Amino acid sequence: MYRNHTCGEIRMENSGQEVLLAGWVQTVRNLGGMTFIDLRDRYGITQLVVDDHTTDAVKNIASTLGREFVVQARGIVRERSSKNAKIPTGEVELHITELNILNEAVTPPFTIMDDTDGGDELRMKYRYLDLRRETVRKNLELRAKMAHVVRNYLDSKNFIETETPVMIKSTPEGARDFVVPSRMNPNQFYALPQSPQLFKQLLMVAGFDRYYQIVKCFRDEDLRADRQPEFTQIDCEMSYVHQEDVLNMFEGLTKHLFKELKGIDIVDFPRMTFAEAFERYGNDKPDLRFGMVIHELTDLVKGKEFKLFEEAEYIGGICATGCGEYTRKQLDALTEYIKKPQIGGTGLVYAKVNPDGSVKSSVDKFYSPDELMAWADRFGAQSGDLLLIMFGSREKTLPVISSLRLEMGRQCGFMDKENFKPLWVVDFPLLEWNEETQRFFAMHHPFTSPKPEDIGLLDTDPGKVRANAYDLVINGVEIGGGSVRIFDSALQAKMFKILGFTKEAAEDQFGFLMNAFKFGAPPHAGIAFGFDRLVSMFAGLDSIRDVIAFPKNNSGRDVMNDSPSPIAQAQLDELYLKLVKSE
Ligand code: AMO
Repeated sequence: MYRNHTCGEIRMENSGQEVLLAGWVQTVRNLGGMTFIDLRDRYGITQLVVDDHTTDAVKNIASTLGREFVVQARGIVRERSSKNAKIPTGEVELHITELNILNEAVTPPFTIMDDTDGGDELRMKYRYLDLRRETVRKNLELRAKMAHVVRNYLDSKNFIETETPVMIKSTPEGARDFVVPSRMNPNQFYALPQSPQLFKQLLMVAGFDRYYQIVKCFRDEDLRADRQPEFTQIDCEMSYVHQEDVLNMFEGLTKHLFKELKGIDIVDFPRMTFAEAFERYGNDKPDLRFGMVIHELTDLVKGKEFKLFEEAEYIGGICATGCGEYTRKQLDALTEYIKKPQIGGTGLVYAKVNPDGSVKSSVDKFYSPDELMAWADRFGAQSGDLLLIMFGSREKTLPVISSLRLEMGRQCGFMDKENFKPLWVVDFPLLEWNEETQRFFAMHHPFTSPKPEDIGLLDTDPGKVRANAYDLVINGVEIGGGSVRIFDSALQAKMFKILGFTKEAAEDQFGFLMNAFKFGAPPHAGIAFGFDRLVSMFAGLDSIRDVIAFPKNNSGRDVMNDSPSPIAQAQLDELYLKLVKSE
């Protein structure tokens, strides 16, 4: 037997007992006649002691220990003289009677403690050591627990967990595919799935009725804190349902997860149309932890000499509650913030509501005190508030205001990570016009159903058609998305046509789905949650990397095993691949 207890479970009740522990040496402190060793495993840390009463054999071994040695220690539990209230085992220690080194360790490149001295890249390179740290491991534990709770919930609702292939046919919509060459089929390639979308729809044709899968998806796209090239979805599909049924089911799952994993009762679960989200929050994923909604001022400010407003299609902004005392320097910093290339703002006009209710603005010479008061009224602003106003085209300005709103939310301390505000954003546009390619793209994917009342617009004004598509948003993060699917082959064929597919191309790419639909496709709808995003939100983290055991870095590389990497010429030959020089 290697151990009969873990390093996290010994308490005062165990005093006097003999126990056997195994784990890693976190620290060795030699204080003259006494040596203290912190022994760590997944469950915690127990202090081992070597003192005058310890045998010479144990003392000799203890003197050779280094950090991260793997050891086994037998000893008697006793009360500590100086207790450590910070750890659950802090009242006791183990007086060692037997000590075995199970394995030696070279000195780790960073300290394996909650407060480590290792930088990001170094910890990624030695991820297995980073995972020894409790702060990192507990995120993965939460992930495992969440997967378990999700499975139990969906199983109880009669969903069938079904695996779908990882080597599939490449389809051109959405992000870029990762592809896999086929040795047995020269010059042909599989793609890794961006999602199991088509397979889950086929499972509905197959009569599975309710499907789910916690599944790896792969997308070759630019990476960010909330994007990895391989990530995990909780992917679901249901038959004989309307949008309402799907929203209710997954609102139920979301509430259940909050209750089970965080003990939080989510009461409000509002719905907001895409149009409203864009008008009031400037994006399709509003953070409802705070107000500061956007108000439009276009109708109030036109007809004066102020050229910037005269030339703008849209003028609007937010009221930053209680920020009226912002200094010139702070206001300049805000202007700089919105002018960053990634934010894309052009300028910022501000107005402060004074204690006497009058309004002072950066454009006083163009507007009378009464006119400025009318602005303040529009925002419902009070004394001490700051109005931040931006201008330009509606499409470009609202997202800039959105960025500033979030920045002000941060500066005002409204981004409490333990305050969770979920909502559904519904009625997304079906199509998105792409200027570059001069064609429509599916905003969600090509299998999303238009709202029945908008189908007529498909022929006259496709850009105006709304979809039966929905996103689950929590605290400004898109956690999930889904839609009611088209299940009528004629409508699906029409969608492909609008999306610019020739009949042959649609047949080549999606023929198998269209064919399947001829054999009795039930009405169906579904959704996928970004599992990594959900776990990182529950853990209060900013990056999904921290909830993935072995993540990629921002260049899509695994710095631990140094991939992607070249392959041997023989392997290339077998796959009919030829290398070309990269720039
Ligand atoms: P969608 O493309 O919206 O829908 O993806 C669903 C959810 O997956 C998460 N997600 C990601 N997470 C981490 N890294 C990424 N690169 C990444 N890309 C997406 C997001 C997103 O909301 N088949 C459809 C679902 C459906 O219609 O049922 C789909 O994949 O949280």
